[in-house]
Order: sequence, then structure tokens, then C-alpha cells
Amino acid sequence: MTESSTAPNAANAFDVAGFRRALGAFVTGVTVVTTLQPDGSPRGFTANSFTSVSLDPPLILVCIAKTASSHAVFSATHRFAVSVLAEDQKHVSGVFASKAADKFEQVRWSARKTGAPVMDGAAASFDCTTHDVVDAGDHIILIGRVVDFVDTSSSPLGYCRGAYVNFSLSQDALAAAGARARVGAILEHRDGLVLVDTPQGLALPTGIRLEPASDPASLRGVLAKLGLSAHLDFLFAVFEERGGTESQVQIYYRGRVLHNGSPWLDSSVRIVPLSQIRWDEVNDAAVRAMLERYVRERRQDAFGIYVGDSEAGTVQPLGLA
Ligand SMILES: Cc1cc2nc3c(=O)[nH]c(=O)nc-3n(C[C@H](O)[C@H](O)[C@H](O)COP(=O)(O)O)c2cc1C
Repeated sequence: MTESSTAPNAANAFDVAGFRRALGAFVTGVTVVTTLQPDGSPRGFTANSFTSVSLDPPLILVCIAKTASSHAVFSATHRFAVSVLAEDQKHVSGVFASKAADKFEQVRWSARKTGAPVMDGAAASFDCTTHDVVDAGDHIILIGRVVDFVDTSSSPLGYCRGAYVNFSLSQDALAAAGARARVGAILEHRDGLVLVDTPQGLALPTGIRLEPASDPASLRGVLAKLGLSAHLDFLFAVFEERGGTESQVQIYYRGRVLHNGSPWLDSSVRIVPLSQIRWDEVNDAAVRAMLERYVRERRQDAFGIYVGDSEAGTVQPLGLA
């Protein structure tokens, strides 16, 4: 286990980047917070600071960075809505985390009871009147009184350590057990992503099953042979690849290389910064598409847990990105 502890004290400046990374360990959902501006046009941004506050009266909160361009609008609004995004709405998260002027033209939405817009297809949504606005450091806390809500059975989109998490993947992976499987890992090292040089080009470390490490054909066994001591955090992708009449289930975890692990790495291991991956050298098209998505999501959200506004310069990317 890698651990780091940094407490603020007089001799030691507060480690903001480390603080952000530590916050990123808290798994959240992803929401889009929306309102109508005085001229009737919709406004919104992506937020994972959403929290339930009270059942009676029904209150929720969301924190808004003072650097967000919509901060003034939300601090003065009398109504707003929170859409809890479903697993298939990563693009909606991306649109509302951007500075695009036409965010609402890129998604489907409809107005609810208070008039605030709600994303179509959201896993749940809460329509609120503003209960209170609290000043809190570089953010404001917007507390809403829920006047209406919708719940669906859609699987929610998760978020942890600066990347999206699909909770339903575990079930898919279980369902795939017994099928011909390839189990791989997208591993982040301090200096970049772990790729393996093979005669077929750059690849991710893979095995034919997950464990045990004593089995050289398993992913754990392959990682041990490469000198990689790793922690697998989440399932990142499960997909089926067809080759002729055969089909193979591909299961990819995302995780981290533990730096207090093995002191050596096999010579085939390449640690490549996310921005320097040579896509033409990753020959497997499905793996390339998956990795491109990983890098895109990682970059879209280089903040670990969201932190303010990159344009205002308050966001420090994780050292890995
Ligand atoms: C997953 C994720 C979660 C975010 N959470 C918040 C949040 O809770 N509060 C916030 O102010 N910004 C958050 N952001 C950043 C805003 O979405 C981003 O700064 C956006 O550009 C703000 O829009 P605006 O500038 O149009 O107001 C988050 C971004 C992402 C990708």
C-alpha cells in the first residue's frame, strides 16, 4: 500500500495537490446543475460536490467554485435542478464541464416544475428552490429545497480519482466468467501509462484470467513477470471482440503501479506520459479506442476531483496526466 500524509503546519506549506489527490479517493456520482437565467436562457455545469443534506425538510447541496463563469448566476438564482447522470452520459458530463456557449444544444433536456432544465435520461433528478447560499472559501454552497424529484432504475455514472467509473461493469464481468476472456490492466505509473512492447506493437499487460500471481498466464502473473506491483482500482471496460467465428470477452481494470513494490521493471515495459502515446503503435483497434477514451476522460478531468476552473488557473493536473 502506498501512503502519504501531509498535515499543514507552520514549517510545511499545505500540500494542495496532495489534498486534491486524497479527495479523489472519495467515490462520487456526477451531476449537472442547471438553472434559468433572468433572460430565460438555461445555464449549467458539471458537479460532483452534490450531497444530500436533510430529509425533513428535503434539502440537498452543491458547491460552486467562485471561478466558475456561472457562479454569479447560481449565487443569485431562486431555483435550480440537479440531474444525476446515468452511466451512458459521460458526454453530457464533458459538455457541462466545458466552457461551450451552446451546452444545452448538445444534449436533450426538458424543463421541470420550477422551470429549471433537467437532462433527459438522467438516473435521478432533483428540482429545487434555493434554500440558502453559504460562502465557503473559494466556493459557495448552494443549498436547495427539493420540490420535485424523479428516480429511475438506470445505473448511475461514478467518479473516482479523476476518472469515470461504471458500476454495472462488475455484473457484466461476472456474466462473462466462463467465456473465453482476456483480462488486462490500464495502469498509471508516476511518470505515465504502462504499455508493453510486443512483436505486434504496443499493448496493455493482459492475461487469460485475473489471478493468481503464481499462474504465469493470469494478469497477476504477467504483472509479476514484468516487475509491476500494482493495485487494480476498478473495472474500466468490458467488451466482446470477434475474430472469425470466435469471440473473446475483454475485461480491463484501471489501477496504479505501487512505487514501493518491485525495484526492477522488465525491459519490455514502457512508461509513456498520457500526452505522448504513439497511437499508431497500438495495433489492437479495440484496445486503442478504449485507451483513447481513457486518456480523453483523464484529460477532461485532470483535476483528480474537480477543482475549480482550469482557465482561471486554479486547477493543478494530477502529476500523472
Ligand atoms: C466530474 C466533474 C465534477 C465537477 N464538479 C464541480 C463542482 O462540484 N463544482 C464546481 O464548481 N465545478 C465542478 N466541476 C468543474 C465545472 O464543471 C467546470 O469548471 C465548468 O466549466 C463550469 O462551467 P461554467 O464555467 O460555465 O460555470 C466539475 C467537473 C467535472 C468534470
